[in-house]
Amino acid sequence: MSMQTVRQVAAHAPQAELAFPAGFVWGAATAAYQIEGAVLDGGRGRSIWDTFSHTPGRTHNGDTGDVACDHYHRYPEDVALMGRLGVRAYRFSVAWPRIQPDGAGPANPAGLDFYDRLVDELIGHGIDPIVTLYHWDLPQALEDRGGWGSRETAHRFARYAELVHARVGDRVRTWITLNEPWCAAFLGYAAGVHAPGRTDPAAAFAAAHHLLLGHGEAVPALRAAGAETLGLTLNPAAVRPADPDAQGDLAAVRLIDGLQNRIFLDPVFGRGYPADVLAVARRFGPLDWLRDGDEQTIAAPLDLLGINYYFPAVVQARPGEREPAAAPYPGSEEIGFVRPPGPVTEMGWVIEPAGLTWLLERLARDYPAVPILITENGAAFDDRLDGAVARVPDPRRVAYLDGHLRAVHAAIARGVDVRGYLVWSLLDNFEWAEGYRKRFGVIYVDYSSQARVPKDSAWWYRDVIARGGLTAEPVT
Ligand code: FCB
Repeated sequence: MSMQTVRQVAAHAPQAELAFPAGFVWGAATAAYQIEGAVLDGGRGRSIWDTFSHTPGRTHNGDTGDVACDHYHRYPEDVALMGRLGVRAYRFSVAWPRIQPDGAGPANPAGLDFYDRLVDELIGHGIDPIVTLYHWDLPQALEDRGGWGSRETAHRFARYAELVHARVGDRVRTWITLNEPWCAAFLGYAAGVHAPGRTDPAAAFAAAHHLLLGHGEAVPALRAAGAETLGLTLNPAAVRPADPDAQGDLAAVRLIDGLQNRIFLDPVFGRGYPADVLAVARRFGPLDWLRDGDEQTIAAPLDLLGINYYFPAVVQARPGEREPAAAPYPGSEEIGFVRPPGPVTEMGWVIEPAGLTWLLERLARDYPAVPILITENGAAFDDRLDGAVARVPDPRRVAYLDGHLRAVHAAIARGVDVRGYLVWSLLDNFEWAEGYRKRFGVIYVDYSSQARVPKDSAWWYRDVIARGGLTAEPVT
């Protein structure tokens, strides 16, 4: 199908046969360090991702976010593209080092100006801004003082959150404090594959706690300042046993569920840390980071739970094994991860939409009725620009998104309160340690010219949004 034909189809979009609830939010997501570039503009300070990506051997090909998609300068074009797709909400993150170059002190007006302009541009196109306050780009100056391993960082985060709110809070209704604190803590401080690249499990547990503490301090501060909808984005593991009849495999599920899910969900929902998780943490060091009152702070009431889902996990007991199943899971020596059968994305992630339905139902069952927003879902494929027709055919991404939207629809049909879906990602971007070789965008970015070309999936998504749902037949 040529782009022309795709547009004609859009113009005559049929009614959705699989309709989503009225008011369902259709959107797209990005993160500051992955798209903005302009790392020296407007007085921006250094973040841990600047340091990490500039350290030889840390990212694929030595890629850095120095230029990325140059969104800092090209945001009007990017917002206009969203307008063409009919996107109703846009989740972006604020780069803390643009607001406080050293992570402390008064706000840097030039840093706030950028987000002020972006918010106005979005609203001018009828797009609702959803702000993530922390998507992994900690000011390096704070890392030099212990980073998330230090309690001080939590307090500083809450102050930074107030500074951002003071400038754009009159126009931004929805706030996400943190993106995926599991990744920030355990990929960053235990596995060392993300910034700041540390491999210290004790520091990772402390980091997880201080991230939650920062969240818990920021929520009432933002609410007092007038913020309407406050949320937290997690990436819970949709984890199941290799053999559902094997007791050992069920215990392995419990451990991974503890280390990635309950460690965040339980304290956020007022249950305090699970004893089994604290027991694992204690193996690596004293729990001196946990003080009286912290769990109450972390349990600040929420309006929204953001969920990012990409792939399921399958685990198996491996008694006698001495190496952790994976470095980000301290204490997982006697378990292994098994790759389930089925097609994978360019990341090697198994494609399994049913895992999302399962996860959503589990959250609704085990945690109180806080509305859920899918804050990220998407896939990387080896997309190629067909320059002759300015088109990027990406049928596998269309099938991935279609399948996962059906999974969300199924969860809603079974009573889960899912309010919206944000595709990851609006643009191809800097995929952290994987650099630019992994393309998650529904819009292709030609990094040599910075040209943007909507992929077929972007036009497909536009049709979904226009008709408010999917056609009866799944896309294969
Ligand atoms: C998530 C991150 C996001 C992006 C996707 C692919 O874990 O939040 O920035 O890297 O994975």
